[in-house]
Amino acid sequence: MPQHEPPKFFDGGGYEKMMGRWSQAAGQLFLDFLEPPRGLHWLDVGCGNGAFTELLFTEAGAAKVTGVDPSDGLLETAKVRLQEHDAELIVGDAQTLPFADQEFDAAVMALVINFLPDPPKAVSEMARVVRPGGTLSSYIWDIDGGGFTMEPIRVSLSGLGIEAPVTGPDKARLDYMEQVWRSLGLEDISSTRMEVPLIYEDFEDFWNSSIGIPNSVANAVKSLSESDQSVLKEGLRKTMATGSDGSVSYAAAINATQGRVPQRT
Ligand SMILES: C[S@@+](CC[C@H](N)C(=O)[O-])C[C@H]1O[C@@H](n2cnc3c(N)ncnc32)[C@H](O)[C@@H]1O
Repeated sequence: MPQHEPPKFFDGGGYEKMMGRWSQAAGQLFLDFLEPPRGLHWLDVGCGNGAFTELLFTEAGAAKVTGVDPSDGLLETAKVRLQEHDAELIVGDAQTLPFADQEFDAAVMALVINFLPDPPKAVSEMARVVRPGGTLSSYIWDIDGGGFTMEPIRVSLSGLGIEAPVTGPDKARLDYMEQVWRSLGLEDISSTRMEVPLIYEDFEDFWNSSIGIPNSVANAVKSLSESDQSVLKEGLRKTMATGSDGSVSYAAAINATQGRVPQRT
């Protein structure tokens, strides 16, 4: 597997265009899986521009959400998005959470675990800051299982002999997440893989939002000559499921795991 630079997330608006709708479609399914009680104080680790954080308020009835993320650019967008809610947004790192023990009812990492150098350290930090009986959960694109949002473009690139690696596929595996949750002594662990269908207005909407901001797939496309880009694009256009109104549909997939902090005696 070729090495590549993990993406750096700075631009909340660009992230929204490429990933925001996917993030919310996946987040909704994930919350259906979790079925959390309402009125919790959540910690949202790697909250980014607040796409999933917003769902914690609107769909899960959160009383309060504390979001932490290393990117102050994304947090600026999150602040505007969440201004009507009781959201606290803090610059920080998942692996050294700036919170006291047992501060939260639940902690979640939405589309983050594959970017972390040390996921077990991050999950142990989540376990530290969540009260006994509270939940720790995570979901991430099933990269190895072909569930990444830009998989159709990756497959087309691969047909031209060009690999566009996605960061941390091993950390996005369901068995990896389960093993981390188990190794930390979490209880009531459950996992699932879910398809996440999404409809784009048309093929141009799919194409422009996918390659509109820098990421390994967009960079690989842009490294091609204009004529090769055009061959790739037109070939892909023919393979995507297209409705009579021109809309383009595609299903990505997430792996999700949850567990509970043991009651201490
Ligand atoms: C794909 S985005 C997901 C954002 C958001 N959770 C969502 O669902 O839309 C990945 C996020 O992980 C954050 N991230 C990367 N490294 C991190 C770390 N060490 N600790 C916490 N967050 C991190 C990035 O800044 C970015 O906001």
